Parts: sequence; structure tokens; C-alpha cells
Amino acid sequence: MLLPRERGPLSRRVLQTLRSGSGHPRPATAFTELALGPDSVLTDEDAQLALWTLYELHYRGFEDVPDDLEWDPTVLRLRRTLERRLERELREAVAPRLRAVPGEAPVGQTLLALPATSSGPSPANHLHRHATREDVEDYLRERSLQQLKESDPQALVLARLTGRAKVALAELLYDEFGGGRPERLHQRLYAETMVAVGLDPTYGAYVDEVGALSLASANVMSMFGLHRRLRGAAMGHLAVFEATSSVPSRKIASGMERLGLPAAAAAYFHEHVEADAVHEHLAAEDICGVMVAEEPHLREDVLVGAAVCLHLDELSAVELTERWSRVSEVAS
Ligand SMILES: [Fe+2]
Ligand SMILES: [Fe+2]
Repeated sequence: MLLPRERGPLSRRVLQTLRSGSGHPRPATAFTELALGPDSVLTDEDAQLALWTLYELHYRGFEDVPDDLEWDPTVLRLRRTLERRLERELREAVAPRLRAVPGEAPVGQTLLALPATSSGPSPANHLHRHATREDVEDYLRERSLQQLKESDPQALVLARLTGRAKVALAELLYDEFGGGRPERLHQRLYAETMVAVGLDPTYGAYVDEVGALSLASANVMSMFGLHRRLRGAAMGHLAVFEATSSVPSRKIASGMERLGLPAAAAAYFHEHVEADAVHEHLAAEDICGVMVAEEPHLREDVLVGAAVCLHLDELSAVELTERWSRVSEVAS
């Protein structure tokens, strides 16, 4: 993969820094702070692209960036500036929702009940009943950034857990990574879905096209996964991610069948109907429940991670469904 196209001053600064390091052990441009304005960074495509680019150094990297910039102090400082701001904004955004959560209930139970507090439009309902083929393609493109590296951010957390929680996460990840069969790797199933509808399955192929919220959804998982301090948030996020997957996956698969798309298109979603019904309990009870029983101070972050997952899903659901309804109004 090559570096993406810039989308504003922040991503330009990141790209310049990474490019200036090409062929040198350290980047030529040193700086400590980015000029972050007062507006939300969550919905700022420039800020989210800058952060996504920095995070990708920890996954597959870029052909036009030397690998050793992954741990360059200048590059890490820049990442930290963006992360601090994003984390603060996310914690503020989910605080009202978490104030309404009863304090006494077991954390696993609370996590599984949390998605019911979500309101607003459902992309899965639209994809099930009304979507055009173009809407399906749009959805798959937007999600491709995170699904083509599905479970990679959570795998970073495995080394930070111990005992029962570690065993439960390993069990969940074993399914996500194909259960011993390369052809069942969920990242690969997603790539096959993209091929089946005529999209490019190459990792990062649509980074220049997707919106801020798709970049942010991927970034949040990376931020939680890369910081041991945020392991509770990473696993709380995973619990809600799994708990909000099974029913929507069934709807999306049947929407694809309604549109007459090839069977290979829906295979990824069929796989998640049953798998995630199991994973949600593994993540909520056997991972988060055990983590909080052993380290009660993690409870708050587990719930923050869970609420962040819902918050981002709600924002992107509004954006996608509004876009699809605008397109259908123009077409009719
Ligand atoms: Fe999966
Ligand atoms: Fe899963």
C-alpha cells in the first residue's frame, strides 16, 4: 500500500514527515504539536486520516515509508497529540450515556443491555429491505477499512491479558482468524464479499474515498488496542461490537439475496450470524466480566469502550442512511 492523498493541513504534515524520512533513519521535520482547532476531531476527515496513516505503520505499513519510522519518537509524538485529543472528545461524548447506567449490575450484563439504549436509523434495516446495489457497495466500501483488518487491533490486546480473560480472547480470536483454516479468515471472507460485488479487495484501496467516521471507527480500535492503559476500553468496545453484529448480519445477508447478488457476497455476513451470537457472550462475560472481577478499576473504561462503539455506530448510521435517502430522492 502507498501513502494516501492528503485531506488538509494535519494529514499533509503527517505525510510530509513520513516522506521526509524516506531513505533516512529519522524524519527531517521535527515538531511537537499540531495545530488542532476547536472543532470535533471525530468528524474531521483530515485529523482522522492523519491518525489512520500513523496507525497503519503498526499494521501493514506503506511501501513508500521506511519500516523503522513505526517507532520514531517524532512520529509517535505526533500520534500522541492526535490521540489525546480524540480520547478526550470520546470520553466527553459518552459521559451522559454512562451516567444513566446502573452502577450495581454485573458488567457483562450491563454490556449486553447497552445496545438497547441506542436509537436512530439502522443501516442494516435499510440494506435488508430497501437498499440498491449501489447502497450495498457504498456500505462495503466504508466498512472495508476496518473489516479488511478485522480483529487485528484486538489481537494486540492478547499479550496484555492473563488467565481466564486471555483464554477467552484467544478462543474468540481463533474464530476470527479462521479456526485453523485460511479460507475462513474473516478478513478474507470480507475481501471475497468485495470481489463478489465488483469492488477492489486490496487492503486500503478505498482510503481516499471513505469518510471521517469510517476512519474514526478504525482508529478507535487501534487506539484502544495499542495502549495497555486502555485494555478495558478495547474489550468493552469488542463486547458491544460483537453484540451488535449477529442480527444486523442476518439482515444484510438477506438484503444481498433480495438484490440477487452472488452467494459469495453474503457469505461473510452469514458467518457472523452464529459466530457473533457466541462471541458477544465470550467478550462480555468471559473477557470483560473476568477482567473487571480481577481489576475493578477497569469497569469504567470497559463501559467507555462499549459506549464509544455505540456512539460511532450511531453517527455513521445517520450519515449513511441520510446519504442513501438523498441518492434515492434524486433518482426518483
Ligand atoms: Fe468476524
Ligand atoms: Fe466476532
